[in-house]
Amino acid sequence: MGRQTSVGFSRIRTRSALILGGVVIALVAAACGGGSTSETVPESSDPAVNHGKQLVVESCAACHGTDFNGVSGLGPSFFDSEFIQSESDADLVEFIKEGRANNDPDNETGVAMPRYGGNPRLTDDDLNDIVAFLRTLQ
Ligand code: HEC
Repeated sequence: MGRQTSVGFSRIRTRSALILGGVVIALVAAACGGGSTSETVPESSDPAVNHGKQLVVESCAACHGTDFNGVSGLGPSFFDSEFIQSESDADLVEFIKEGRANNDPDNETGVAMPRYGGNPRLTDDDLNDIVAFLRTLQ
């Protein structure tokens, strides 16, 4: 009888340790990801810009960051980009379509930028909206 009680007690302790562990992981995840997301860039009055932002979150954020600030070892930040500032809208659309191979002489990171950011379903209208959004970060 005494033995059973102690087994039950240790089960409860194991369970609460697991729950506590889960809470800690959730808190860490919230602190890392939740603090700076696309929500830090305010909604625009231009629907094209908002559509572009949504597409960037869906198709580009994995490498360029959910806060558009870049991901170390993957894509560079979209903020204050000399490249974005120096290219015309049409050239930026072309750039996104083409991507940049990692052996391209212009490649700066040694990491490839995939064609269409890896999402070939993006239409020209989509790409124009993406460029309109990227302009707002300069
Ligand atoms: C698989 C990762 C990946 C994805 C997804 C991705 N990119 Fe990139 N992107 C890169 C890398 C890596 C570079 C830097 C290439 C280099 O070193 O020249 C880059 C560079 C760029 C640049 C040039 C930035 C600069 O300052 O030189 C732009 C603009 C860009 N990406 C836009 C996009 C857009 C828009 C999307 C989504 C449609 C996207 N990328 C999706 C990896 C990615």
